[in-house]
Amino acid sequence: MDVLPDVIVEARGLQKFFGEVEAVRGIDFSIQRGEVFGFLGPNGAGKTSTMRMISCMSPRSAGKLLVRGHDPAESGSEIRRGIGLVPQDDALDSEMSVLDNLHIYGRYFDIPRKEIRARAKVLLEFAQLTDRADSKVDNLSGGMRRRLTIARALISRPELVILDEPTTGLDPQARHLVWERLYQLRREGVTLIITTHYMDEAEQLCDRLVVMDRGLIVGAGTPRSLIEKTVAREVVEVRLDDGNYLSLVDRLGDHIDRAEILGDRLCCYGEDGDQILDLILALGIHPASSLVRRATLEDVFLFLTGRSLVD
Ligand SMILES: Nc1ncnc2c1ncn2[C@@H]1O[C@H](COP(=O)(O)OP(=O)(O)OP(=O)(O)O)[C@@H](O)[C@H]1O
Ligand SMILES: [Mg+2]
Repeated sequence: MDVLPDVIVEARGLQKFFGEVEAVRGIDFSIQRGEVFGFLGPNGAGKTSTMRMISCMSPRSAGKLLVRGHDPAESGSEIRRGIGLVPQDDALDSEMSVLDNLHIYGRYFDIPRKEIRARAKVLLEFAQLTDRADSKVDNLSGGMRRRLTIARALISRPELVILDEPTTGLDPQARHLVWERLYQLRREGVTLIITTHYMDEAEQLCDRLVVMDRGLIVGAGTPRSLIEKTVAREVVEVRLDDGNYLSLVDRLGDHIDRAEILGDRLCCYGEDGDQILDLILALGIHPASSLVRRATLEDVFLFLTGRSLVD
């Protein structure tokens, strides 16, 4: 498979079986150097299985895969040299200190001790853990542990960093701190691959992303393009006391692109939310509550991963 030099990961028909279970069902994607590329998907979508194939932790079952210009089936160690991995579970040594965790990892890459010491100092600053260098990992908060795992992944100065759910379980402050550090890496030209369940994370961080569901890619693009091509620009959410949503959708007809019932609300998608709301009011319908907003990746996600549509 020939790929352009600015492509860092290329997959064609990539598949992963665990016995009978087809976790990844023949997916295609192409990741450019220097971009932040996201894999968004619900539990069991196949995100971790894909990350593990890219990072040469688990062999593919079929299809083509090139990472940093090499085939993982032939050149795993060469590929791994340029990759930093932040696995879904931190896999830190909890009995050891923060600094020792960095040192041990650096030794895996045969980095000289003196060089590791110098890099660890910078990375502790980066991860805002300088004053915790001698703390046992056991005593760190979840956010600190995640930052240490990111620092650890950077000790070999990788050109590609793969982060499997970097902020799951963190509070908002801790998440924002991780995001800020990831922005910094991007500015330095590092390519980032991120999996997440968080729509806001994907929308803020990712240059491009794919939505995975049940082993397949069901949507791809920039966050904005995905929103505009999958749903629409704006959404009107209304609650009706009589709950007669089907009749309302019927009356709105072609004035909306699509409609969807989410719990006790009706979401109407279209170019201009205010105009749709005016139309609803002009029909003599007075919603118990209404909200006009821009469509988000969450709308895309709900649509692509199996919500029933009204239309
Ligand atoms: N080692 C394994 N052995 C057997 N089945 C596995 C193994 N790893 C994953 N699977 C199965 O493959 C499918 C995809 O799992 P995967 O962990 O890749 O999903 P995910 O998108 O990362 O989910 P999550 O968001 O929960 O982390 C699931 O059905 C899972 O049960
Ligand atoms: Mg996972």
